[in-house]
Amino acid sequence: MKEKIVALRDALKGAGQVTVLTGAGISAESGVPTFRGDEGIWQNYRATDLATPEAFDRDPELVWRFYNWRRELISHVTYNPAHKALVELEGLVPGFTLITQNVDGLHLLAGSHNLLEIHGNLWKVRCTKCQMIALDRSPDLGPSPKCKSCGGLLRPHVVWFGEALDPAILKKAIEASRRSHVMLAIGTSSVVQPAASLALEAKSSGAVVAEINLESTPHSYLMDFSLLGKAGVIVPQLVGGWK
Ligand code: OAD
Repeated sequence: MKEKIVALRDALKGAGQVTVLTGAGISAESGVPTFRGDEGIWQNYRATDLATPEAFDRDPELVWRFYNWRRELISHVTYNPAHKALVELEGLVPGFTLITQNVDGLHLLAGSHNLLEIHGNLWKVRCTKCQMIALDRSPDLGPSPKCKSCGGLLRPHVVWFGEALDPAILKKAIEASRRSHVMLAIGTSSVVQPAASLALEAKSSGAVVAEINLESTPHSYLMDFSLLGKAGVIVPQLVGGWK
């Protein structure tokens, strides 16, 4: 493991452009549940009941209960050493893009700047009528929150299954992946598209690709480095000791 960390750190040191893709695993050590695996959210709840446009049309109150529960949960947690190490990495390399599938806002809280939240943000709401997007940090918005400007029903400003990502954000994510010299995929199961294909984009464009995860993923085969362990331990080791 030590040799792999040293070799990957050397690759990062020589890289002009670094892109990082993160998933729920990076926030696990902050106390935010992941989606898959034994303790994952989708083990106890069905995504089709809670995280699709059809579910919201059918029963918005149920969907809002789920999102209020998640808002309440993340209102009590904070970033961990892995989030913080990525802030440090952004300051160390010439070009840096952080792409996250997480909606918990912890990268922003930690201080990352060049950040693409491709699945949205739990603290943002969007009006289903006038499409206005607003930031609201109240942990519980109630079962049927309404838009302050037009009175329409609000929904979480997150991407649900069956919905397209914002094309402008996706374009930036693909471009960053293609121009990267090193790409890190941290704490993602690499099964949800299009995020999962970004490492493939980077690899096909000649980047060194690496994953940091508790276990192997369907993308382990394409990785130049697969570092198995906790993100909160490995990412700070990668970024520390540059001098
Ligand atoms: P998943 O829950 O699918 O995967 C989390 C990954 O993190 C797994 O591969 C774990 O092995 C790994 N992991 C857990 N704890 C870790 C730790 N401490 N250090 C390193 N790795 C760890 O989460 P995502 O890949 O983010 O989408 O899921 C992708 C998308 O599916 C989410 O954005 C969400 C979900 O359904 C939507 O809601 C649209």
